[in-house]
Amino acid sequence: MRVLILGGDGYLGWPTALRLSSQGYEVAVVDNYMRRNIMREENVEPLYRVPNLHERVHLWKEHSRKEIFVHIGDLRQWDFLARVFDEFQPQVIVHYAEQPSAPYSMLRREASLLTIENNLTVTSNVIFAMREFCPDAHLIKLGTMGEYGTPNIDIEEGWINIKHNERQQKFLYPRQAGSLYHTTKIMDTDLLWFYVRTWGMRVTDLMQGPVYGLFTEETVVSDNLLTLFSYDELFGTVINRFIVQAVAGYPLSVYGKGGQTRGYLNIKDTVSCVQLSIENPADEGELRIFNQFTETFSVSELAEKVLRVGKDLGIEVVVKKIENPRQELEEHYYKPVHTGLLELGLSPHYLSDGVLEEMMKFVLLYKKDIDRHKIFRGTKWS
Ligand SMILES: NC(=O)c1ccc[n+]([C@@H]2O[C@H](COP(=O)([O-])OP(=O)(O)OC[C@H]3O[C@@H](n4cnc5c(N)ncnc54)[C@H](O)[C@@H]3O)[C@@H](O)[C@H]2O)c1
Repeated sequence: MRVLILGGDGYLGWPTALRLSSQGYEVAVVDNYMRRNIMREENVEPLYRVPNLHERVHLWKEHSRKEIFVHIGDLRQWDFLARVFDEFQPQVIVHYAEQPSAPYSMLRREASLLTIENNLTVTSNVIFAMREFCPDAHLIKLGTMGEYGTPNIDIEEGWINIKHNERQQKFLYPRQAGSLYHTTKIMDTDLLWFYVRTWGMRVTDLMQGPVYGLFTEETVVSDNLLTLFSYDELFGTVINRFIVQAVAGYPLSVYGKGGQTRGYLNIKDTVSCVQLSIENPADEGELRIFNQFTETFSVSELAEKVLRVGKDLGIEVVVKKIENPRQELEEHYYKPVHTGLLELGLSPHYLSDGVLEEMMKFVLLYKKDIDRHKIFRGTKWS
């Protein structure tokens, strides 16, 4: 089966490419290095050097004897995207290719516009390319749990039945995001739902929580195959950031009261969720939505865990509550359903002390490379 991975150079796209390639899928990856370019522009390079996509694919071939096809280009450019779709004729498209940082999207006008323009143009182009070149293919699109926000009622898995004046209908679950980036993901979902209704597309929208971790089965075989690992405020997800802060002796930055609760998952489970979605495709004319996370924690609970594991390793960790630069509820109700992927067979890797310890020991090897100035910049929402 031919799988096209859009955003294949990214934190999640690269390990997904290796997993699918190792499982015998024919894999092509597309990327324009937007993430790497923004990291350079904002002076927030990742913890260790990551070879470029051509080099990594070459290393993977040496290791596995399997070929991954590489296309470097901007998916906002129709001619480029159309050529890739026409040549490769994908049966599955995994769409990761977006500007994924909430703080970056709130940084300044240019960053906001880039996020809107990039995310919506790529998603629209993908929809049109599927219609023209592979109308029967299955699109797996990465959405985010952040689309739902933090409502004061249970969060359903994508859809909700609403009864009103004795009549009822199923609707997309109400969405109210907490950043511009998350708002573009809502707009993506609306676009997809429109074209699923109108053109009968086959779509799985994965509402993913913040991902943590470094290692998947395929990336651990060589340091040069590891995925990129960010620890700065723009691109580092909270658990990854806390691990690096602990190792650097930098106080864990808990925003405000620290009661912000989200659903998290290990990067190993991201690649499994995508594989399970490929193996169990959505129907024609179906927008299938899964809430993709395995357990929920508040920020304070995460800080406590990192503090405890650090202590076991002889690292003195300090937790510091700081003024919240974001606009968000710091204490709230949070109960999202997440049964769909478990029913497909996901067996989760939970956030144990052992998992945190393994990450911390790895990061300790790069302690001298941590630049403390990159950790916090206080991007304000207001
Ligand atoms: N990492 C997480 O915790 C997380 C959580 C929820 C949802 N997501 C979603 O998952 C997806 C992947 O996230 P990630 O952390 O791997 O991000 P990432 O930035 O590491 O990966 C995205 C990749 O897409 C590429 N890209 C962006 N725009 C492009 C364009 N116009 N043309 C070609 N390539 C382009 C980037 O260069 C990057 O390599 C994103 O859509 C993100 O919104 C991520």
